[in-house]
Amino acid sequence: MHPKILAIESSCDETSASVISNGKVLNNVIASQSVHHKYGGVVPELASRAHQKNIVHIVNEALRSSGINTEELDAIAFTKGPGLLGSLLVGVSFAKSMALALDIPLIEVNHMQAHVLSHFIEDPKPGFPFLCLTVSGGHTQIILVKEHLDFTVIGETQDDAVGEAFDKAAKIMGLPYPGGPMIDRLAKDGNPDAFVFPYTSMPSYNFSFSGIKTAFLYFIRDELAKNPSFIEERKNDISASIQKHLVKMLLEKLEKASFELNIKEIAIAGGVSANSGLRSALKVKGKQLGWNTFIPDFQYCTDNAAMVAMVAHYKYLNNIFTDLNASPLARMPIDAK
Ligand code: KG4
Ligand code: ZN
Repeated sequence: MHPKILAIESSCDETSASVISNGKVLNNVIASQSVHHKYGGVVPELASRAHQKNIVHIVNEALRSSGINTEELDAIAFTKGPGLLGSLLVGVSFAKSMALALDIPLIEVNHMQAHVLSHFIEDPKPGFPFLCLTVSGGHTQIILVKEHLDFTVIGETQDDAVGEAFDKAAKIMGLPYPGGPMIDRLAKDGNPDAFVFPYTSMPSYNFSFSGIKTAFLYFIRDELAKNPSFIEERKNDISASIQKHLVKMLLEKLEKASFELNIKEIAIAGGVSANSGLRSALKVKGKQLGWNTFIPDFQYCTDNAAMVAMVAHYKYLNNIFTDLNASPLARMPIDAK
């Protein structure tokens, strides 16, 4: 079996298509939506319209550059969720229509499962079982991965995601959207020990980021009252300090899980895994604790269809297909079989 699959990702503000052949990703075509920048965040209505505008072009480009004809495809895959409903609808409708027209199977993919399997696009690949810290704009989870399609969420945020905390901190500082990458950039020239924030820790492997968001808001408010130019004068130090704090909160739980479950294959995935503070802190901790660490290439950290294609490949091999008549956007837990 050498399946050739076209995968579509449209869960948020990236329209992406990828073709995978026998487990090898041939391309990863992405159109990012700049329309949201002036609003300081993703506007769902505009996101779905932009997906509609981009999807035909992106799919055609993925097919053209793969050298694979539509008649050669064995299945069409799409991101079922989690994500913005209007955005997901564009992808699922397109994938369904294409599967119907070509009379080939349809494969639904959980977006967070796809982030984890981004580690199977290129070498080196983690061995099973491994722990994956999946950190994005909507999720913060520690996942125990026993097999390509066997996932157990062992810890997750009880309120906001860490990506939201990065974005919110940037917004409070008046930085343009998207805030996470801006904080990362400014932090490079800042002192991470300049400011210390209150540390709250949840029991078990769970996270909470709502407290630090509020603490950061009050910190900035109080400093601005003393010095109206505080942000302008110290933006590098503020960014480096909040980044260090958030990274510490993430790694504390990862270390606890690694120790208690005795697993030393450790991966990170999702948009926030592009953060250079997290990437370097993970490498340092990995060296200290004898971990094999896995950090995705930048193009596979943020949303992309290559990772969706990877899940689709394993689902195809396991004969897991989606009924064309099933409600396409019902809730899809990551550990669903
Ligand atoms: O995985 P992703 O592209 O979309 C979701 O599934 O949510 O993650 C987007 C999140 C945003 O919160 C964004 O600010 C954050 O990832 N992000 C970063 C960096 N690059 C993206 N956060 C910190 N540092 C970065 N370099
Ligand atoms: Zn994502």
